Amino acid sequence: MQVLGEDIGGSGVKGAPVDVKKGDLLAKRFRIPTPRSGKPQAIAETVAELVDQFKWNGLVGCGFPAAIQGGVALTAANVDKSWIGTDAVRLFSQTTNCKTYVVNDADAAGVAEMRFGAGRKAKGVVLMITVGTGLGTALFTDGALVPNCELGHILLRGKDAELYASDAARQRKNLSWKAWGKRFNEYLSRLEALLWPDMFIIGGGASKKFSNFADQLSVKAKVVPAQMLNEAGIIGAAIFAYEKSRGKK
Ligand code: BGC
Repeated sequence: MQVLGEDIGGSGVKGAPVDVKKGDLLAKRFRIPTPRSGKPQAIAETVAELVDQFKWNGLVGCGFPAAIQGGVALTAANVDKSWIGTDAVRLFSQTTNCKTYVVNDADAAGVAEMRFGAGRKAKGVVLMITVGTGLGTALFTDGALVPNCELGHILLRGKDAELYASDAARQRKNLSWKAWGKRFNEYLSRLEALLWPDMFIIGGGASKKFSNFADQLSVKAKVVPAQMLNEAGIIGAAIFAYEKSRGKK
């Protein structure tokens, strides 16, 4: 079964057709810069451009950086505020002329990691964290997703955690990996005290640099880097759409 997966980010919208049974891309992924305005209509047109790029007329799954309930975006931490209350499923389905499902971007990446990557066969409570512009989180219990947990926004030292421990914060403050690793460890420790997951999976850009900060981490839970790198968001969005279309989620 093939589904077009798209991952909508702050700087680029990336997509590729996905074999949802194998968790593989069926073509090289294509990236279009995210329109500067970041507004719903402009993003929808970019989503549609990718559909045209692959001459697609089947199912589409999109990961988007907001809590998504019933297809509607409920938050807008790093995107234009006019997204709040936008029915993304309706907008994208109309603009692409393809049935489109929308899922939180971290949930999408988590679904792919749990199915085909670092969380394969993992039981118990797993928390995937995507470290990028923001901190995205995806919570699983015995492999089942608890959607939309926005744990990147817990307070750490009186601040929104993602302002303190995201990759954007590391770059903004020009922190060494060691200094940033200490901050990230504070974040993980706080999450551990609240949720006691059995395992953390660290995704996003930081997963490629895991060895640079791994020795700063002191939580009890197992901490592993994500395995699917740039493709998790695309693959997970496609799997989500496929399962949703079959009434599984
Ligand atoms: C958003 C989340 C998103 C994460 C990663 C956060 O700022 O609130 O919905 O998953 O960034 O993009």
